[in-house]
Amino acid sequence: MPGPPLRPAQPEESESPVSALFEPYALRSLSVPNRIWMAPMCQYSAAATGPDTGAANDWHFAHYASRAAGGTGLVLVEATAVSPEGRISPADLGIWNDRQAEAFRPITAFLAGQGTVPGIQLAHAGRKASTDRPWRGGAAIGVDDAEGWKPVGPSPLAYDGSHTAPAELSTEEIQQIVGQFADAARRALEAGFRVAEIHGAHGYLIGEFLSPHSNHRTDAYGGSFENRTRFALEVVDAVRAVWPEELPLFFRISATDWLTENADDPREGWTADDTVRLARRLLAHGVDLLDVSTGGLAPKARIPVEPGYQVPFAERVRTETGLPVAAVGLITDPVQAEKILADGHADAVLLGRELLRDPYFARNAARALGGDVQVPEQYGYAV
Ligand SMILES: Cc1cc2nc3c(=O)[nH]c(=O)nc-3n(C[C@H](O)[C@H](O)[C@H](O)COP(=O)(O)O)c2cc1C
Repeated sequence: MPGPPLRPAQPEESESPVSALFEPYALRSLSVPNRIWMAPMCQYSAAATGPDTGAANDWHFAHYASRAAGGTGLVLVEATAVSPEGRISPADLGIWNDRQAEAFRPITAFLAGQGTVPGIQLAHAGRKASTDRPWRGGAAIGVDDAEGWKPVGPSPLAYDGSHTAPAELSTEEIQQIVGQFADAARRALEAGFRVAEIHGAHGYLIGEFLSPHSNHRTDAYGGSFENRTRFALEVVDAVRAVWPEELPLFFRISATDWLTENADDPREGWTADDTVRLARRLLAHGVDLLDVSTGGLAPKARIPVEPGYQVPFAERVRTETGLPVAAVGLITDPVQAEKILADGHADAVLLGRELLRDPYFARNAARALGGDVQVPEQYGYAV
């Protein structure tokens, strides 16, 4: 079933028919200049010890600045931990103290100067925490290792055979983490971010609460759909309470963890139906856009990966709930990206690995499709 027409009420529509990718997108008080956005991608490149632990550095500046110079409309800075235990690796970015927030300022200022909207993904890795950088193998780091710590989760169930079983969170600890998300959002605002995204996907802590596979609690945070979604909605409410009315809030979800969908897998997981049900509540709680990913629990080999493989999940949310969505996953080509929007499947596309290959994807796509992106003045007059 085709989705609704592409955001009919959008202001600043161009007189001439342009590519849908290059139509500005209004989100609360913001106007995002185009719909080619950068997906959050962990760089595992912050200091793991010392006073600058978790703080953005030259690598992060170069990495994000180059995508802004390339015309990307909105950049979502990688999963940024709301507490030390919330990092997936010791080298993750964090935003649990003011020094870390301050270190983001040059990045947000540069992005804004290029006309790119600076966004940040606020994260807690839950039971997946305490692992090594992927280029060193990404193995779980044990509690006794100098760089390791004991992860936390909804239930004392290890992510896999190599991970330490997490400590089961008490109700008070859950409330503390809700407060850490709100503190992180407040700091993100002060650091110059204009979009906050809550990471509820990929088997991170919020996703662990959502899925019956990882959440075996018998209290108010486990069991029924209402109970498993309680933590997610509490985090949304706490962040929305400190995040200004005029600025947008995103939520990233794994539309499915690919367990129930696998007929030969007996495990019960989080499903696309659950996602649609939760999306309606997220909308009612002040979320402006759902970033629709998948995954988190099924082995990678079981995920049916083909170009745009997650788009149908985004389209379903958009069609059935009216909540705006961004589609992500193997979107690598301007014509493919354009079609996703023109067919009404999503409101924006998020690019991950393709933007690692080509920071100028948006500018090149504009040339190919006849759209406009802001080009740095240092380049624009010459080429
Ligand atoms: C290097 C790398 C780091 C990633 N880190 C994050 C992250 O911090 N948060 C997140 O939600 N997803 C993360 N992802 C997933 C991406 O945001 C994206 O959903 C995924 O790569 C699929 O999009 P793509 O096919 O365009 O790469 C990461 C992916 C890559 C390749």
